[in-house]
Amino acid sequence: MSLIKKCLFPVAGYGTRFLPATKAMPKEMLPIVTKPLIQYAVEEAMAAGITGMAFVTGRGKRALEDHFDISYELKHQIAGSDKEKLLAETRNIIENCTFSYTRQVEMKGLGHAIEVGGNLIGDEPFAVILADDYCVAEDDSVLSQMVKLFDKYQCSIVAIEAVPQDETDRYGIIEGEEEAEGVFRISNMVEKPAAEDAPSNLAIVGRYILTPDIFEILHNTPPGKNGELQITDTLLTQAQQGQVIGYKFHGRRFDCGSVDGYIEAINYTYAQQRD
Ligand code: G1P
Repeated sequence: MSLIKKCLFPVAGYGTRFLPATKAMPKEMLPIVTKPLIQYAVEEAMAAGITGMAFVTGRGKRALEDHFDISYELKHQIAGSDKEKLLAETRNIIENCTFSYTRQVEMKGLGHAIEVGGNLIGDEPFAVILADDYCVAEDDSVLSQMVKLFDKYQCSIVAIEAVPQDETDRYGIIEGEEEAEGVFRISNMVEKPAAEDAPSNLAIVGRYILTPDIFEILHNTPPGKNGELQITDTLLTQAQQGQVIGYKFHGRRFDCGSVDGYIEAINYTYAQQRD
């Protein structure tokens, strides 16, 4: 039985790159073919043995709560029709997971969102998924690979991926020693450095496993890049004690926070489904 029982989903962001689509709809409800990004994220957590889904939401995000609830009207309307199977996966999630929500009233960064989510987590290690990093893997889901690694290392873990050098300013960038294949002991990390200041081209992707001491550290970390509380800065404190692993996951990530990445994800997934 895994030690990781809860996953935090920071979903308060506005998704302004997708306006007008996201004017009245959360960006996490954008579909990859017919399934919303947030459902893929929750399914990935489930595949890692997690059943406690904790959301840090914000204004205009109610559709997310409704998505993980029964719609009696809809259920009644499609009962007995061949459309029933289209909701089978959603029903399976609702029946097997618990959902909790809290609101981030002000947007003060990813670190702040995670700090706000602390009251849904408690004193245990937990996972974080950023739904707009849509990850596909052949057999084991990316988070599942990380949960297995946590059983061995028992410290915070971030998913990493090599990115083109001129894109380092879009990510948290790590520096570390590769101590097993694809497993880096992180010594330094910087949030969105310019190419010339980046310690490597290994970028953090939106999958984290965090140990609960992170909340105390968050509390004591000053705002960083863009005046926001950065999880990267907080993890640096743990990294300086040798307590953060960077993991080059098996699988592929699509940056669905950008229109190009989102369209690529749809084309890829549609082709997979058609085959
Ligand atoms: C956040 C993190 C960044 C990480 C990225 C992954 O940035 O701050 O370190 O590399 O997610 O998607 P954001 O994309 O929210 O600006």
